Amino acid sequence: MPEAKLSLRSVHKSFGGNHVLRGIDMDVATGEMICLIGASGSGKSTLLRCINQLEPIDDGSVWLDGQDISEPGLDLGPVRRRIGIVFQSYNLFPHMSALENVVLAPRRVLQEDGDALNARAEALFDRFGLAQHMRKYPDQLSGGQQQRVAVIRALAMRPEIMLFDEITAALDPELVGEVLNVLRQLRAEGMTMLLATHEMGFARELADRVCFMDGGVIVEEGPPGQIFSDPKVARTQAFLRTVLR
Ligand SMILES: Nc1ncnc2c1ncn2[C@@H]1O[C@H](COP(=O)(O)OP(=O)(O)OP(=O)(O)O)[C@@H](O)[C@H]1O
Ligand SMILES: [Mg+2]
Repeated sequence: MPEAKLSLRSVHKSFGGNHVLRGIDMDVATGEMICLIGASGSGKSTLLRCINQLEPIDDGSVWLDGQDISEPGLDLGPVRRRIGIVFQSYNLFPHMSALENVVLAPRRVLQEDGDALNARAEALFDRFGLAQHMRKYPDQLSGGQQQRVAVIRALAMRPEIMLFDEITAALDPELVGEVLNVLRQLRAEGMTMLLATHEMGFARELADRVCFMDGGVIVEEGPPGQIFSDPKVARTQAFLRTVLR
């Protein structure tokens, strides 16, 4: 039984005849931040979705605190509460304020009481510099603000691990920074995180470990200083030449 916070063992995933993940092994320690980099189609999003069991895996196993969460038949509700995920498209409900979006799932799923929950949600908005916007509706917020609300919405479930899939990819460049600041803050607070990203500068700055994916495997992994300055594998070198030029 693996001892890490999160462990993947020989994870395979196919969509029809497309063998997308071809044996992923990974151990993530509590408080670690991992950045997944790699070309489009290399399997980064699929890997994140297989971690919190949005996609069932075909072979291998995924372990959370020593429990096999990929076991068929397991109740996935608790797993998905413990592993939050935020996507590129933030999908806030347009007819609800930011605050209402954030308290929706905790009220329904955690059955938290209204006043205590509102106070906790307001503290989250405060913590991430959005207190003045929490009564606004999504169309009154910028893309960056909406994405920060989406992060707060995930955090409101008190996850132990957060997965982020290209959460700045749809934003105008001037809004990317405020979303990356949220991730900086979460990292400083010790959140365990996996982030699929095309923001190489950010991966270099904040990741404890960078995993380069190609063809459904982790081709090379290491601290960002090594991966970006001294990649050992030819495929990593070729990828970085195209994205860092
Ligand atoms: N739900 C799905 N059904 C069928 N094929 C899928 C599905 N999700 C992903 N795929 C396929 O799996 C492969 C990997 O896709 P994935 O989205 O994981 O790549 P990615 O590394 O996240 O790419 P990007 O950088 O563009 O986000 C692609 O060939 C994609 O078409
Ligand atoms: Mg993707």
